[in-house]
Amino acid sequence: MESAEIRSRFLNYFESKGHTVVPSASLLLDDPTLLFVNAGMVPFKPYFLGEAAPPYPRAVSAQKVVRTLDIEEVGKTTRHASFFQMCGNFSFGDYFKEQAIPYAWELLTSPVSAGGYGFPEDKLWVTVYLDDDESVDIWHKVVGVPMERIQRRDMADNYWSMGVPGPCGPCSEIYYDRGPEHGREGGPIADETRYLEVWNLVFMQFERGEGPGKENFPILGELPSKSIDTGMGLERMAALLQGVDNIYEIDTTRIILDRASELSGRKYGADPKSDVALRVVADHARTCAFLIADGVLPGNEGRGYVLRRILRRVVRNMRLLGTNDPSMKELIAASITAMAPQYPELLSEQGRIMSIAAAEEETFLSTLERAGGFASAQEVYRLMQREGESIGLTTVYRSLQSLVNDKIVDVLRRDDGEAIYRLCGEAHHHHLVCKGCGDTVEIEGGAIEKWAKMMAEEHGFREVGHTAEIFGLCAKC
Ligand code: GLY
Repeated sequence: MESAEIRSRFLNYFESKGHTVVPSASLLLDDPTLLFVNAGMVPFKPYFLGEAAPPYPRAVSAQKVVRTLDIEEVGKTTRHASFFQMCGNFSFGDYFKEQAIPYAWELLTSPVSAGGYGFPEDKLWVTVYLDDDESVDIWHKVVGVPMERIQRRDMADNYWSMGVPGPCGPCSEIYYDRGPEHGREGGPIADETRYLEVWNLVFMQFERGEGPGKENFPILGELPSKSIDTGMGLERMAALLQGVDNIYEIDTTRIILDRASELSGRKYGADPKSDVALRVVADHARTCAFLIADGVLPGNEGRGYVLRRILRRVVRNMRLLGTNDPSMKELIAASITAMAPQYPELLSEQGRIMSIAAAEEETFLSTLERAGGFASAQEVYRLMQREGESIGLTTVYRSLQSLVNDKIVDVLRRDDGEAIYRLCGEAHHHHLVCKGCGDTVEIEGGAIEKWAKMMAEEHGFREVGHTAEIFGLCAKC
């Protein structure tokens, strides 16, 4: 079943159940807690919180989403993406679990000929929050799921929030068993690769406060009414219904991946390392197209920096695939071909998106040309500071500092353009080498590896593998 069909079945099913079909909002909503829309419910947040009156009691949407927290995982796993589409049905103080659960089950298990997705009932498992007996009863007594395929999980897995203050609540997830060739028996609690999450039903009841992660936040109180927010990842569903192994090989993403393969001459499936690069390119090129379409421009801060970083990762990965020529225009064109059936507005924006992406690529390629794998002390220092602040690498930067005590600080502080830092792959250990007197300081630990990897992947320095040498001037020189 094609992605566009999966999407329209979702919208049609819930429309037939009295939901208003709401078009995807822009990725850029005016919410100070978020850079980008990171879940299908974000446009509806004021309705859950009671800050605005919902214009409809029930809604359904397929929302564009950008998530960059796990960007390093993209291409390496079967299911991480920086851009995806979240299909969701929403109730604003209207129905609650007693209807949300049977709706999801009916759409998943109805035959394809009747407008459903045709999943065999005995391949579906569900999880509920630890003390949520009510949901267990609905799953078991109303829907008929055997107790042995209902599992209870704690807050880390079965409690949903946007990751920032806002509405939250316990959730119930539906998993599909892909079979013993994909992993261990025992349900989602045993193996989340074999048992793939397909749909998350969130029972919005509370408001969360500030706090890190998925568990360590205070509950500020109850929401004005009990609501429903669900999320069914369109790309994951497409992977299952199209019988492919991962989300990069589904109909839409595959068009972009194949274009990257043609441009680079690297056949997909021939080499695991190239496959990862091809998948990264396919995922990221599409994300660039959508970000630019919604008005983001490459820059050094905030949203612009995220776009710049993602676009540069495309360029870097094309180089890893052996292509030094500009390819953004072709990759953007392929992304638009793949996605225009669902987002026709991309076609009218094509020229603008391509020229912005191509200009950024040109700037980066000429920087790489000039740098040739070398960077001045100022550049490295600036990059480290900026990275540290903007993408959470402060810890790496700090540990790197403490790892080499004052020495690296001294070297980095010589902001006179003299010191040259070089990463190379030949050394057996990590070294800090003084260009002046040849003094060598051994560096241990993982911090430098992380930093070196980031410098290689994000900024086009020579790839370092597991070793790195940094050349600079020591404090004495
Ligand atoms: N808002 C539910 C989800 O994204 O899973």
